[in-house]
Amino acid sequence: MVRTVSPQQLADLLAGWRDGDGAGYAVLAARIRLLAIDGRIPAGSRLPSERELADRLGVSRTTIGAALDELRASGYVETRRGSGSIIRIPGTHAHRHGSLGPLGPRLDFTTASAGATPGFQWAAERAVSALPSVLGGPGYELIGLPQLREALAERYTARGLPTRPTQIMVTSGAQAAITLAARVLLGRGDRAVVESPGYPHAYEALRLAGARLIPLAVDATHGWKADEAVELIRGVAPKVAYLMPDFHNPTARTMPETTRERIARAARESGSTLLIDETTGELDIDRGRRAPFAAVVPAGTSVVTIGSASKTMWGGLRVGWLRASEDVIAELAIARPHGDLGTAVLDQLIVTELLADLDAILEHRRAEHLIARDALAAALAERLPSWRMPRVDGGLAAWVHFDRPVSSQLAIGARDRGLRIPAGPWFGLDGAYERFIRIPFGPGPEAVRNAVDILAEVWADVADAPVSSETSSLSAVV
Ligand SMILES: Cc1ncc(COP(=O)(O)O)c(C=O)c1O
Repeated sequence: MVRTVSPQQLADLLAGWRDGDGAGYAVLAARIRLLAIDGRIPAGSRLPSERELADRLGVSRTTIGAALDELRASGYVETRRGSGSIIRIPGTHAHRHGSLGPLGPRLDFTTASAGATPGFQWAAERAVSALPSVLGGPGYELIGLPQLREALAERYTARGLPTRPTQIMVTSGAQAAITLAARVLLGRGDRAVVESPGYPHAYEALRLAGARLIPLAVDATHGWKADEAVELIRGVAPKVAYLMPDFHNPTARTMPETTRERIARAARESGSTLLIDETTGELDIDRGRRAPFAAVVPAGTSVVTIGSASKTMWGGLRVGWLRASEDVIAELAIARPHGDLGTAVLDQLIVTELLADLDAILEHRRAEHLIARDALAAALAERLPSWRMPRVDGGLAAWVHFDRPVSSQLAIGARDRGLRIPAGPWFGLDGAYERFIRIPFGPGPEAVRNAVDILAEVWADVADAPVSSETSSLSAVV
């Protein structure tokens, strides 16, 4: 069955497209092409009609027509009378057959996470035993189970950030925390500074809250430039700056202590709130542990911290949290019900059980990640010696660099060979990063070696073929 992308879905996926440089139709075509390449609009999907698109995006039908002409000319759209405009990926299996088949790709590197921590099942059984203590209540825990909030507050305090349980709200994963915080902290047209490259679902959440995103560059090797960051925050005075100072996704960089302090000072002077995502912040391999960001900032800095059980315990739990001032927690609680009415209580009980063992869990993750990271470095050195993997001392992935702008071509070729991996532009605000690809090591050493084998095969193909002007213009425009 042909899947139809609704005008609203496409408008959401295209959020911020006008920020791109160049003629409107070309920018629009480039963004749609990228959505197709990254699989965010699956091949075989039907686009809305020209009229619907023009209405929804607020542009003329001429602009839409010209964008579709360009997509047709480059093979990304096929238009048939009576069936509308269908997304295609030129020259791929998906183009010829419409889909990758019922089993999909063998290796999914779109998420960087590993499976559940050992001992998960036992913790879940203990949580089930604890259920009678909560079954008498209604089960709607808008700000979270008191015992979990207490355990999280204790952990922050033990890590050097004194915290009261009233400063914690449990959310349904870190993603829900970002979305809720964005909704509360931002209004239409407000400016939000985000790292580029960065975590794409945060871009989406901030945009949906109405923000105009302003990029702060994070270099693959050197991370943040303190002067640039301070100047940007002072110059722009954003409502929010969303940052990942510990094992930044995708570069894995750690922000130095002095940069943290300088950014915090600039944010305080500019009246900006720092939305600090520490979802992967405790996944240290050989850097050493650090206090949470909020522990090292000058008094009076407005910081909202995001945490998650997804990467340490298991993504299937869907438990995250926000740490903020009591006033901000109260605002979040008022805004939450329209999105959700609380987080599953059994999952919260499981996290409460596992938190008691978090140090042991982190030690286990460290050992696993060390082996997998070293396997990735070794496989790249052997199979793709021209690629450069910067030093990675924590997190879940490496942001690997190569000298040709072919990341999208690599992602398409890899998908045909059973590896689903997002192209570098997925992590950019406007689709740059064609010379980068994020390779997760979370899936473990064997999966990593198989993935690198596939990437090496595809690289040989794209290295033999001249880089198409198609890809070059894509990296320049989007
Ligand atoms: C930086 C970052 N923030 C948030 C999330 C979402 O986490 P959760 O699974 O807790 O919603 C992820 C997931 O990959 C992430 O990498």
